[in-house]
Amino acid sequence: MQLNSVELFKIAQQMEQMGIKFYERAYEFSNQDKEKETFLKLAKMEREHLKFFTLMEKKAENAKYCVSDEIDSYLKENFPSNIFDSDISKKIGKELKTMKDIISYAIEKEKDAIEYYLKISKNVSDIDENSLAAIRTIIKEEESHVEFLKELL
Ligand SMILES: [Fe+2]
Ligand SMILES: [Fe+2]
Repeated sequence: MQLNSVELFKIAQQMEQMGIKFYERAYEFSNQDKEKETFLKLAKMEREHLKFFTLMEKKAENAKYCVSDEIDSYLKENFPSNIFDSDISKKIGKELKTMKDIISYAIEKEKDAIEYYLKISKNVSDIDENSLAAIRTIIKEEESHVEFLKELL
C-alpha cells in the first residue's frame, strides 16, 4: 500500500484519537488510584501526540498536497483494520472485562503505534530533520507507555 505523508499523518491522528478515548474510558472504568493516575497521564500524552500529527499533516498539505476527499475515502478503504478498529474504547467492560485485559490490550495498541511510527520515520521523504526528531521522541514516549502499563500488571 502506497501512502503519501498527508495520509500517513491522518492515520497517526486516528491512532492517537483512539488512544485518548481508550485511556479516558479506562480511567472511568478503574477504581484504583494508581491506575487512574497512569491512564490520565497517558491520555494527556496522547493528546500532545495528536496535536503534533495534526500539525505535521498541515505542514505536508502546505508543502505538497491540497485537501482532498479522495484521501479520506482512500483511507477508509485501506486503513489496516488492526490499527483502525472502529472505537476500541467500547471494548472496555465488554470484551475487555478485567483490568488485566484492558492493560494487556493497551500494551498491544502501544506496540502497534510504535511499529507504525517507525514505518513513518523510515518512509516519509518530504519531512524536515526537526519533525523526524519529534517523531523519534514520540516513539520513545510510546515505548515509555508500554512500561507505565506493565507497571500496572
Ligand atoms: Fe501517542
Ligand atoms: Fe501511547
